[in-house]
Amino acid sequence: MLPTMSTSGPYTDHRVFFRSATDLAEVADRSVDLIVTSPPYPMIGMWDEVFAEQRPEVADALAAGRGMGAFEAMHGLLDAVWRECRRVLAPGGFLCINIGDATRTVGSSFRLYPNHARVISACSALDLEALPSIVWRKTTNAPNKFMGSGTLPAGAYVTLEHEYVLVFRAGGPRRFAADDRGRRRESAYFWEERNVWFSDQWDLSGVRQSFGAVSPSRDPGRARSGAFPVELAYRLICMYSAYGDTVLDPFLGTGTTTLAAIAAARNSVGFERDPRLAGAMDATVAAGCGVAPAAVSLDGQRDLDVPVPAEAPVNARVRRRLDDHRAAMAEYERNRGAPATHHHNRFDVPVVTRQETDIVLYGVQALALSGVGTKGVDDGAHDPARVYRASHTAMSS
Ligand SMILES: C[S@@+](CC[C@H](N)C(=O)[O-])C[C@H]1O[C@@H](n2cnc3c(N)ncnc32)[C@H](O)[C@@H]1O
Repeated sequence: MLPTMSTSGPYTDHRVFFRSATDLAEVADRSVDLIVTSPPYPMIGMWDEVFAEQRPEVADALAAGRGMGAFEAMHGLLDAVWRECRRVLAPGGFLCINIGDATRTVGSSFRLYPNHARVISACSALDLEALPSIVWRKTTNAPNKFMGSGTLPAGAYVTLEHEYVLVFRAGGPRRFAADDRGRRRESAYFWEERNVWFSDQWDLSGVRQSFGAVSPSRDPGRARSGAFPVELAYRLICMYSAYGDTVLDPFLGTGTTTLAAIAAARNSVGFERDPRLAGAMDATVAAGCGVAPAAVSLDGQRDLDVPVPAEAPVNARVRRRLDDHRAAMAEYERNRGAPATHHHNRFDVPVVTRQETDIVLYGVQALALSGVGTKGVDDGAHDPARVYRASHTAMSS
């Protein structure tokens, strides 16, 4: 059961602050169960200005042709955020960082800038335990394999077609108190989901694996923002947190993690330095919840409950878990030549393990938005610039 209750049903809150995540003052020590994020990638040209605005030495190093100097200065900014992440993570909490490496010519030198390795050493130095990471293979739309000397040997280099999801844990396995064991069991995932989600290679380019209309691959505006697929955040939230938990994204961008947390019925808090992304966040939440953008715009109505249609992408995603499970179990029982051992009574479906028998899936029933300041921008008073509230209802078969 979700811990926050109102007369209209369980709800989750999704707070957004427009400020730098180098200082997460609004987030208490050890209060966050999971962090899902993707920072600006050091040494990828589209983020140079964002880094240089925050660390002037970045521009100096690039201008002087000192690639490794720029790389280190950029990571210096990220290091400050990882320190804050370490502070706010609860014992046993997870930190999942999507990041890609970069290749670049600076001055006369072409080389690889291994962002993922640099982040692993920074987080390990903060006493975050590195766990096996995930390789996210991205299919490139127009791959240019002719990097370097083309078809002539010894001068070409391979193209980067993957990114990482680095996984860290704060301080050993999470302990669930006796009171929390029920919600842990309700938050379980299906056996066949576990088999796919816990593979170390993800291919998330397909529309089927996205939330449809909010897939970055279908929306060039989102792709340019560096957005990751909602499915990526949704999976991580289901894998590494339980109902009632709080998920943080310190580099919120267009609000993908907020939407994924709404779909997964977890609370969330996000930080984004650029307040111009407020409209994009509203658009992400609106599209995912199948409501008109004006319904979640602070320029429109406030504090208003907007019904979320049953067929909204967030609800379709959760419903698809059950549909996919039925199909997977039909195949499982066919291959086994016998019925599965366990049964989920509420959904009236077979399940492979006893751990799956208490799974609860929540749909989103309504969405409300409130904000601080006329433009929804943080007024510096430590109030969130936006709070989306989602009310949830347990799905039945
Ligand atoms: C790769 S994008 C995140 C994209 C996001 N995952 C999404 O799906 O839209 C990185 C974001 O970090 C923001 N950013 C850069 N420096 C920041 C800082 N110090 N604190 C918070 N946000 C920052 C950028 O404005 C950008 O929106």
